[in-house]
This record gives sequence, structure tokens and C-alpha cells, in this order.
Amino acid sequence: MEEEITIKVKKLTKSFNGNKVLDELDLDIKKGETLGILGKSGIGKSVLLKHLIGLMKPDSGQIYIGAIDIAPLKEEDISVIRRMLFGMLFQTAALLNSLTVAENVALPLKEGTNLPEEKIRQKVKEKLAMVGLKDIEDQMPDSLSGGMRRRVGLARALVMDPQIILYDEPTSGLDPIIANSINQLILDVKELTGATSIVVTHDLNCINRIADRVGLLYDGKILEINEKEKFMKSENPYVQQFIHGRIEGPIKIG
Ligand SMILES: Nc1ncnc2c1ncn2[C@@H]1O[C@H](COP(=O)(O)OP(=O)(O)OP(=O)(O)O)[C@@H](O)[C@H]1O
Ligand SMILES: [Mg+2]
Repeated sequence: MEEEITIKVKKLTKSFNGNKVLDELDLDIKKGETLGILGKSGIGKSVLLKHLIGLMKPDSGQIYIGAIDIAPLKEEDISVIRRMLFGMLFQTAALLNSLTVAENVALPLKEGTNLPEEKIRQKVKEKLAMVGLKDIEDQMPDSLSGGMRRRVGLARALVMDPQIILYDEPTSGLDPIIANSINQLILDVKELTGATSIVVTHDLNCINRIADRVGLLYDGKILEINEKEKFMKSENPYVQQFIHGRIEGPIKIG
């Protein structure tokens, strides 16, 4: 039986100033899975996620979200799809420092719905509780720890009840214990919502804990992709080098 696919990327190509970051990249993402994408710093992980959510336009290629290719769509149409389907936890949580925690989490609801204030307040509270935070609605992001900022960012990503959640380096810069609490949260959110999740990271521990399948991004392409256990045992020299952190090997350093 063919498995249902929510996202299909075909020959996605993107260059910046002559530097080809994504080079005819193909990727299928299955409904309900947690797909981890590994790759070294600067290889194009964030660029890939930004294409999936329509924040970047490809030079060429297709990005099917369900049956719709978003690549040629106008920003106003993409933004509707983005709001309806996607939640994204950005690499640095990307909270607005001039707004309170509650205002940050409420932002997608204010911009994308006509819900009354009371309903918005209720949803914000519900999502903050989902990420294990309470009674911090009126605090400013500056006063929060890195782990708490990540949680608030996740609450904001969840506030529109997305079917697809994108996580950009959800654990980077956090100590191992806080990082694992975020990993656990990603698992809990999946359990609660059934959303399809895509996690890009260079944190192997994160991948080990949360991913169903794993892909390696290198040289503009998904070089290898497989179920996690098979991926970790892959004999592909690029995969081997990456997961063992070897200095010697086919992956160029720098
Ligand atoms: N808006 C942009 N304009 C120009 N170049 C960009 C832009 N965004 C990304 N790049 C370039 O694309 C490449 C890939 O960047 P990207 O941020 O996707 O890397 P990454 O894999 O997410 O790295 P990290 O692990 O450090 O987050 C880099 O060379 C970066 O300089
Ligand atoms: Mg990045």
C-alpha cells in the first residue's frame, strides 16, 4: 500500500550569490511521521525549511503541500496555506522582545483569525500549558531562560493547531537536560496532535530520541534517507563520518 505523503519536494534548487545551497533536492515526507534532517552548519537546513513553509522562493523545482505546488504561488496565497497548515519553531525562537509572552503566542491568531480577545486568551493559556508553562503570560521574553524561550516559541508554533510542525535546531544552545526536556516536548506534541514533524538539527541525541526517519543533507541534496535504525547503521561513508563526528572522510570541513 502506498503511504500518504503530505509534502513532496522535487528538484528544489536555490542559490545565493552564485553559491548553490540546494541542488535539485528531492524529498518525500509522510503524513504523521517525525522526520529528522541532519547536516553540518551552513549546509542549508534552515534554507530548506524556509522553502517548505514558503518563506523562501526556489530558483526552480516544486514543493507540493498535499496536491498544491506552492513554488509558483503569490505570497498572499502562500501565507494562507502557511497559517492554515504550518507551525514553525525558529532557530532562535524568534520572539519579539517588545511583546509579552502572551502577545507573542497570540500573534498568529491576531494576524490570521477574527477570534475575540477572550477566546485568544484562552487559546494562549492552553498552548502555554501544553508546553509546560503557566503564569508567565505577562513576562517579557528577555526575562526568560533559553529553554523557556524555546517553549514559548513552540507554544506560538502550535497556536493555530498546525498539521505540520517545523523545528529548526530546537535544542541548540541548551544544556543537555533542558535539551532533553525539549525533545520530550516534541514527542508529547506529536502524541497529542498527530502532526507531521520535520526537525532539522546537527544534534544526534535529538535525532536519536525523536525521529522516525532520518535524512542527511549534503551538497544540496538529501544524500541518504531511511528509518532511523537503518540510517544509523548505514554504510554510506558520509553518514558514517557525520554520525561519528570523524574529521577524516568525504565531508569537507569548513
Ligand atoms: N537570505 C540569505 N541570503 C544569502 N545567503 C543566505 C541566506 N540564507 C542563507 N544563506 C546562505 O545559505 C547557506 C545555508 O544557510 P542555512 O542557514 O540554511 O544553513 P544551516 O544548515 O541552517 O546552518 P546552521 O546549522 O548554522 O543553522 C549559507 O551559506 C548561508 O550563508
Ligand atoms: Mg540553520
